[in-house]
Amino acid sequence: MTGFWSIYITILTVGTLLALTWLIFATRKGQRPDTTDQTMGHTFDGIEEYDNPLPRWWFMLFLGTLIFGALYLVLYPGLGTWKGVLPGYEGGWTQVSQWQREMDRANEQYGPLYAKFAAMPVAEVAKDEQALKMGSRLFASNCSVCHGSDAKGAFGFPNLTDHDWLYGGQADTIKTTIMGGRQAAMPAWKDILGEEGIKNVAGYVRSLSGLKNPEGVDIAAGQKTFATNCAVCHGAEGKGTQAMGAPNLTDGTWLYGSSFAQVQQTLRFGRNGMMPAQKDMLGNDKVHLLAAYVYSLSQQPAK
Ligand code: HEC
Ligand code: HEC
Repeated sequence: MTGFWSIYITILTVGTLLALTWLIFATRKGQRPDTTDQTMGHTFDGIEEYDNPLPRWWFMLFLGTLIFGALYLVLYPGLGTWKGVLPGYEGGWTQVSQWQREMDRANEQYGPLYAKFAAMPVAEVAKDEQALKMGSRLFASNCSVCHGSDAKGAFGFPNLTDHDWLYGGQADTIKTTIMGGRQAAMPAWKDILGEEGIKNVAGYVRSLSGLKNPEGVDIAAGQKTFATNCAVCHGAEGKGTQAMGAPNLTDGTWLYGSSFAQVQQTLRFGRNGMMPAQKDMLGNDKVHLLAAYVYSLSQQPAK
């Protein structure tokens, strides 16, 4: 704020407080001490105004708000260059300094714990009850929006409990996934294969996990298309390539749906699932705990 407006607001605020203080005391002065039946002589539509003092509770309430206002202005920054004298906030209270104080307190409390777990291998951390509790809390606030609070995923968001991995389920691979994020690149085939080609290769892919296809789908033609166009990523047998997140197409797990229409949709327009990197958001120590938590989910019997 410019100097002029600072001064303008300071005068307006302090001036109003002083004026109101004067007003309340001036009004009270010269009032009769007790309630009466006498009126002031004013009538409005038959309603008469009695000559009574200000109610005591009302006066105290008004005084209270004035004192609150004055205290607030002394404690917190706001007027001009005044920084406020709130205890514990040398240099003045701000939202940032309050946040920083809370973070410092949390780090003091949890810092040594994070450091201890960060120095252990992920698979070891996954056996520690306290670490898993911390991990599950981090998951609830950072990951469940996409993967679900039970980590079982949704359309387009993988299930993390099913022992079926796009990128690999080793403890360190999971940590790499969460730290760096992942960007899947399944190309669109609409212009390359045409509707007929898409229909046939969709039928072939579905047949890999034993799904029945509608009449008129040429599975043999689909298989040929697959060998030329798809095997580079999904493997000759369609079992997928974890290095690039190309899913196994034979296991009956579908990220984008298994119906004939859904698989064709996937093929027509491609898919580009994106797992956001957490390296800069959460940092190594929290990701370490999260990796342990996710790893622990896959150590339990499949659900
Ligand atoms: C904005 C949505 C979103 C958020 C938030 C998110 N994820 Fe993901 N995650 C995804 C998507 C989408 C994929 C799949 C990427 C793909 O299709 O290749 C994924 C993939 C993964 C995988 C790889 C699964 C596999 O099969 O290899 C792991 C592990 C994972 N996420 C863990 C997490 C954790 C832990 C968090 C919390 C820090 C998190 N994710 C937050 C969207 C999200
Ligand atoms: C450049 C590598 C690449 C090529 C080539 C490729 N795919 Fe994919 N495919 C992927 C990736 C990566 C994904 C995962 C997309 C995601 O997670 O968002 C995927 C996903 C899919 C899915 C969705 C699986 C599910 O679980 O819902 C199907 C079906 C599929 N591909 C079939 C094919 C077919 C058929 C071809 C050939 C016409 C093909 N792909 C060619 C990389 C490839």
